[in-house]
Amino acid sequence: MSSKTMIEAKNITKQFERKIALSSLSFTIKKGELVALIGPSGAGKTTLLNSIAGLVPISSGELLIDAMPLSFYKKGKVFAKKVGVIRQQFDLIGPLAVIHNVLAGRLHEWGTLKSLLSLLIPQEKASAIQALDRVGLRGKANEITSTLSGGEQQRVAMARLMVQKPEIILADEPVASLDPARADDILNMLITLSLEENQTLITSLHSVDFARKYFTRIIALKNGKIFFDLPTDKVTDDILAQLYQLKSGETV
Ligand SMILES: Nc1ncnc2c1ncn2[C@@H]1O[C@H](COP(=O)(O)OP(=O)(O)OP(=O)(O)O)[C@@H](O)[C@H]1O
Ligand SMILES: [Mg+2]
Repeated sequence: MSSKTMIEAKNITKQFERKIALSSLSFTIKKGELVALIGPSGAGKTTLLNSIAGLVPISSGELLIDAMPLSFYKKGKVFAKKVGVIRQQFDLIGPLAVIHNVLAGRLHEWGTLKSLLSLLIPQEKASAIQALDRVGLRGKANEITSTLSGGEQQRVAMARLMVQKPEIILADEPVASLDPARADDILNMLITLSLEENQTLITSLHSVDFARKYFTRIIALKNGKIFFDLPTDKVTDDILAQLYQLKSGETV
């Protein structure tokens, strides 16, 4: 990990009509950090990740990505090299062949037509096949993506990320729909990739066990605020119990 700051949030607030989803959050995340974002349902995890991804405009405060405000990255191509997003539903195009989805990681560089034509370029095809190979899907390159299992589709999304190579990866509950063994496998792969490329990774998770197992820093949100922001080895069972504790009358 270097000391370069990749993400800086200064008093960011997000309000949806009357609901305050994020309430004056401030933090910095350095290049290469592996951060788990945890907290009860409705705490603001998705809203925070979507704000960093530029998908949800913040209501106030300042958000700097690699020292520049989000507005600096208006051009999609520049931003896609900075930030890659992986979601529970993977954002894959179901009717397309697997390899097309993998090459879509290059869409930001080329535009759609070139991306589809890229299959005719042996070098590009080779890089997509190589990525599929790494995620254990070499034989599935030409299958229709929607026919793959949830775990396999998550691997396709991972291969797409390998081709895209963004500096920051934002993953919103990337393993929520997978069984524990597959979830472990995918998280392992995500961490290995991030370490290899010195990428900054922020992953929201409902599993505290996975957060502890794979991430070096845990940021916990509760009611739109930072409840704690600690190195993983400082996160105690006691503070976790407080985080997830229900107030009387509250439901998960
Ligand atoms: N588009 C929206 N319009 C109105 N309210 C919203 C919108 N998106 C989120 N919220 C509200 O903001 C709060 C934070 O939601 P968010 O989805 O960020 O929580 P979360 O921590 O990701 O929860 P979960 O663990 O269930 O995914 C919730 O109260 C939610 O209802
Ligand atoms: Mg969420």
